[in-house]
Amino acid sequence: MSAILTFNQQRLFEQARSLQDQQDVLVVVKNNAYNFGMERAYKAFYKAGIRSYATTNLEEAVWLRKQDNQITIVLLDPSTEFDVLREHDISLTVPNLTFYHQYKEDIKGIKIHLVFKNLLNRFGFDTGEEMKTVFDEQLLTITGIWTHFAFADELTDERYEIEKENWSNVLTVLEPYLHTLTFIHAQNSASYLRDGLFSQHTHIRAGAIAYGALPYYGLPESLASQAIEVSATVKDIVSVPKGQSAGYSAAFIAEEDTLLAICDIGYGNGILRTRSKHEVMINQKTFPIAVLMMSHLMVKVDTSVSIGDRVYLYNDQLRLEYFRQKGVGAISEQMASLNHHTFKINEIPLSE
Ligand SMILES: Cc1ncc(COP(=O)(O)O)c(C=O)c1O
Repeated sequence: MSAILTFNQQRLFEQARSLQDQQDVLVVVKNNAYNFGMERAYKAFYKAGIRSYATTNLEEAVWLRKQDNQITIVLLDPSTEFDVLREHDISLTVPNLTFYHQYKEDIKGIKIHLVFKNLLNRFGFDTGEEMKTVFDEQLLTITGIWTHFAFADELTDERYEIEKENWSNVLTVLEPYLHTLTFIHAQNSASYLRDGLFSQHTHIRAGAIAYGALPYYGLPESLASQAIEVSATVKDIVSVPKGQSAGYSAAFIAEEDTLLAICDIGYGNGILRTRSKHEVMINQKTFPIAVLMMSHLMVKVDTSVSIGDRVYLYNDQLRLEYFRQKGVGAISEQMASLNHHTFKINEIPLSE
């Protein structure tokens, strides 16, 4: 049997519903819905009652519009494909004053969100006053404003407080216009779990938590149930005597007589090299990885492991946020790296 990637669509739905029951969610579905699969994710999110979707990719935005006429679709990146945006009723993010001055005649009639740059320094207006000039000119159909916090996920970094204050100052400047907006959104999963929905805001803009992953380690696991699982099979077990090596260029050198389980998964499946610094689970026991290769993983095991056993890299005990804490990478990075076409896909569909 090959490596298996499980998508638990029912769990995704339950997770999304519990979130949507708390707050209106503008769910982030960029990068093929965090690599969960756009169609798979959309069906679960829609069933959960989520009616607002955000992506950076125009093709994904158009695909979403084809699913439903009524949902709100926000393009988080700027685009000059104005006809496509207009035809499909996709809300456009205007990223700064330069873009506004250059295109203000062309984007009339398109729903507009203005973004504040803040400390992320990606896209965005530099100040609330700049944003206010766009409101004051009254040329555009502005339906939303937003920002994104660069430090919400870093619990010990005080710059999150600065970002929040900057944003709060923007809201103060734009106060006369806030009642005209249907979308005021700033908070990703971490910000929402830390602070709840900020006052005056209409939606959280959630990624990780909507996909069943906690943004950081240490939160109650009951807040999110992981919707993916990654596993492989033990194909062989080899004994490596003390002093001998295994893997290309002696990637592993046995400091004692060692049993290595050879498993059918590797970086070709999208397993990050950083992930190979940490354990896998076989028969409910954890074992360290010795070598990561393109199609194989060598795991240091004991005699309790047999050929044919399943090897878990991600499951309910081995969670994305645990590996984020260990430095493997962001939740989205761990999810986005998985190469679907190299796995046998196991679907747990929505129940009727
Ligand atoms: C603009 C924007 N908003 C929201 C999110 C969702 O963040 P999270 O997955 O931490 O909830 C992202 C993620 O990359 C983002 O880029």
